[in-house]
Amino acid sequence: MYWLDVAGPQRRALDLVVDEFAGIVSAMQAPHILLGIGGGIAAYKAPELVRQFRKLGAEIIPVVTEAATHLVSPLALQAVSGNTPRGKLWDADAEAGMGHIELARWADALVIAPATANRLATMAQGSAQDLLSTIYLATVAPVFIAPAMNTRMWEHPATVRNVETVLGDGVRMIGPDDGEQACGEFGPGRMSEPDAIAEWVLDSLEISNLLSGVNVLLTSGPTREHIDPVRYITNKSSGKQGFALATAFRQLGADVKVVTGPVHVARPTGIEYVDVQSASEMKSAVEAEVDQADIFIAVAAVADYRPVQALDQKIKKSEQNKDGLVLELTENDDIVKFVANRAKKPFVVGFAAETREAIRFAREKRARKNLDAIVVNDVSDTRIGFDSAENAVTLIFEGKEVELPQMSKNAIAKRLADEISQRFLHRSN
Ligand code: CTP
Repeated sequence: MYWLDVAGPQRRALDLVVDEFAGIVSAMQAPHILLGIGGGIAAYKAPELVRQFRKLGAEIIPVVTEAATHLVSPLALQAVSGNTPRGKLWDADAEAGMGHIELARWADALVIAPATANRLATMAQGSAQDLLSTIYLATVAPVFIAPAMNTRMWEHPATVRNVETVLGDGVRMIGPDDGEQACGEFGPGRMSEPDAIAEWVLDSLEISNLLSGVNVLLTSGPTREHIDPVRYITNKSSGKQGFALATAFRQLGADVKVVTGPVHVARPTGIEYVDVQSASEMKSAVEAEVDQADIFIAVAAVADYRPVQALDQKIKKSEQNKDGLVLELTENDDIVKFVANRAKKPFVVGFAAETREAIRFAREKRARKNLDAIVVNDVSDTRIGFDSAENAVTLIFEGKEVELPQMSKNAIAKRLADEISQRFLHRSN
């Protein structure tokens, strides 16, 4: 057994630490989190992660993999969680208390942090080789992962494949963050910070009924305008802000549908997706759905123009175009404007990406497109917007403007969803 049974003076010391949390945590309403700890260096952050979860009111049972016990002390985990960490599948005593199937049922969420390359491979394969992988297969609770590994391991095609598989199975992912790693390299692979992980997981579990019965339709991500079978025009939109906003509306109890262009970010669960490629496909999908929508939010970075003709065959270099090739473009329909000018019009919110005089241009755009609100960000600032994890925006209604300073896209999404919902619920028409 590699977790410790603690007795005597050590036990009393632990009780004191646990008591310190007792006033903060209400066991009655505490969400149950199973915290699976993988065997990466970032496992040293696990006690801090437990502490952050408990600070926010969760009850934690740590599930420690064999490898993780070399990096984090089960004693420390017991001290901060107030529960005996679990580790082995074949432990008669532990299984007699709460077996692996009961643990899987007990959980309101399974959080795996750090999720190592090996853990992702195990999850992608669906193999049940230890307690954590068995719980992963047995639980119906939402599963959250915070990957952490060396940058090159993260970028290896095998890991990329495994991540895609796991996300496709409905697992939600935070990070990994960019930065200096324990191995001295720079790049993506650092586990997200414990406070961010705890807040993200608990936020995702929370569903209110403020918008129950309300249908929200969003567009999200970039579009691809094909030139020929292998080439297209697109933009830097990652789809992160759209999915974060969809999640925030889901958490307010709305029924949410997202028409999404091609993106490579995790798809939050509890939301319906319609996949499209081009702006005209996006418009057709919106036309098919918009009658049911109470709120329409155009987050997508829709290409304003498409090639006049998408060729069936690949364009070859030839004598004809040796002095250059002219690509003739034609304008795409404006989807948000189309929705905002329908006779049966939902509450419509647009986004504006500006590089100068952001507020002035956005105010004009809101009026011109007949929108109830517009969210504007300054994309000339590379620390925020398109491909980054953070954003800073201003939300403009008629007669009211709300400035949201730089914060995570999830935090921005929550604030936007709150403001938009209030305005929607108190609208006069
Ligand atoms: N939009 C849309 N359909 C389009 C183009 C844009 O629905 N064909 C939506 C976007 O989803 C966004 C808003 O319109 O909500 C603003 O898009 P943007 O391209 O910034 O505005 P434009 O009106 O095209 O103005 P400009 O490019 O001149 O800044």
